[in-house]
Amino acid sequence: MKSRNLAALVAASGLALAAAGAFAQTVKIGFITSYSGLNGNLGPYMERGMRLYLKEHQKELPPGVNIEFLIRDDTGPNPDKAKQLAQELIVRDKVNLLAGVIFTPNAMAIAPLATEAKVPFVIMNAGTAVITTRSPYIARLSFTLWQSCYPLGQWAAKKFKRVYTLVSDFGPGHDCEDAIVRATKESGGEVAGTVRVPLSNPDFVPYMQRVKDAKPDALAVFIPAGKTATAVLKAFGDLGLSKAGIKLIGPGDVTTDEELENMGEAALGVLTVHHYSAAATRPANQAFVAAWKRDYGANETPNFVAVGGWDGMAAILYAVKEQKGKIDPDRTMELLKNFKDPNSPRGPISIDPTTRDIVQPEYLREVRRVGGKLANVEIETLGAAVKDPWKELNKK
Ligand code: PHB
Repeated sequence: MKSRNLAALVAASGLALAAAGAFAQTVKIGFITSYSGLNGNLGPYMERGMRLYLKEHQKELPPGVNIEFLIRDDTGPNPDKAKQLAQELIVRDKVNLLAGVIFTPNAMAIAPLATEAKVPFVIMNAGTAVITTRSPYIARLSFTLWQSCYPLGQWAAKKFKRVYTLVSDFGPGHDCEDAIVRATKESGGEVAGTVRVPLSNPDFVPYMQRVKDAKPDALAVFIPAGKTATAVLKAFGDLGLSKAGIKLIGPGDVTTDEELENMGEAALGVLTVHHYSAAATRPANQAFVAAWKRDYGANETPNFVAVGGWDGMAAILYAVKEQKGKIDPDRTMELLKNFKDPNSPRGPISIDPTTRDIVQPEYLREVRRVGGKLANVEIETLGAAVKDPWKELNKK
């Protein structure tokens, strides 16, 4: 090649690079979740769900628009740490959005910062009802505990005479207890007793003994998903509550998909209400599970935290596409309020524009053995488009 041509080529490609640079738009997402501390195995599910959605939909990004994740570990239920991380992401890294968060106390600590800095905050797990009222810049793509525990209580009151509740002593546990107690009373059932246990690594044995002595027909449990769920199942099995005729029920956290194999036989027959099961036979879920296994390994199973990451990313991508990568906080919130997906792995979902909480189906499920593996088999849809009942019941 003649040197003049080479020079022209260099100049031309320089121009092309400059042009690409002029149009390049990076959307920065500050992603805070739990990779360590209590149930630190949950964070990677959320991150992998979020990344998988983006990978499957990468082509939909407007030309020149990139997404950058700034990933941070809040070390479990640790509001001070979560607040510090959010502050750094906002002030130093100048993120366009915040996303993630397994634990309620962390979401509560971040909420005022989202308001102050006008940074949209997409919650992918934390499920205490009140969270979304703490900032107009929050949209929740996960669930509330009222969404599962209220219909659970209504259904259980028809089937069991006396229901005992056992919950972790923090926001989502209190919500689940309140929802079940209210639904039980409204439906003419009887609450045999309620007990709250410490959030971090309690010994479940004495609590289970107390429940056994009270002889309820069912025990409804909320604890955070992950290893805590397996500890509950073990104590329930070891103390022979099932043999004593007590049925274990709860929101889906207690039979979280990724722990079923570790729970073993004790999980068989447990009845739960939840919005997501990896065993759901909807085509959208089968495609999601297949993509998960393709990318993360044949023995890997997604769970509801993974779906929170997946649907949260779907909502973010929608807002990014509509704005061609130029994120305006108020416009983003308007878009998030109107987000819907008829084809989520969990079924049809939307955001309630009034509350910024997700509206979704709730399924009754039973742990059964399917093809040699334990699975949350969906047996009935209790509600096709369930709004957060706490907000519905407390409307002004
Ligand atoms: C929460 O802190 O809101 C939370 C944590 C774990 C769960 C559900 C809710 O499984």
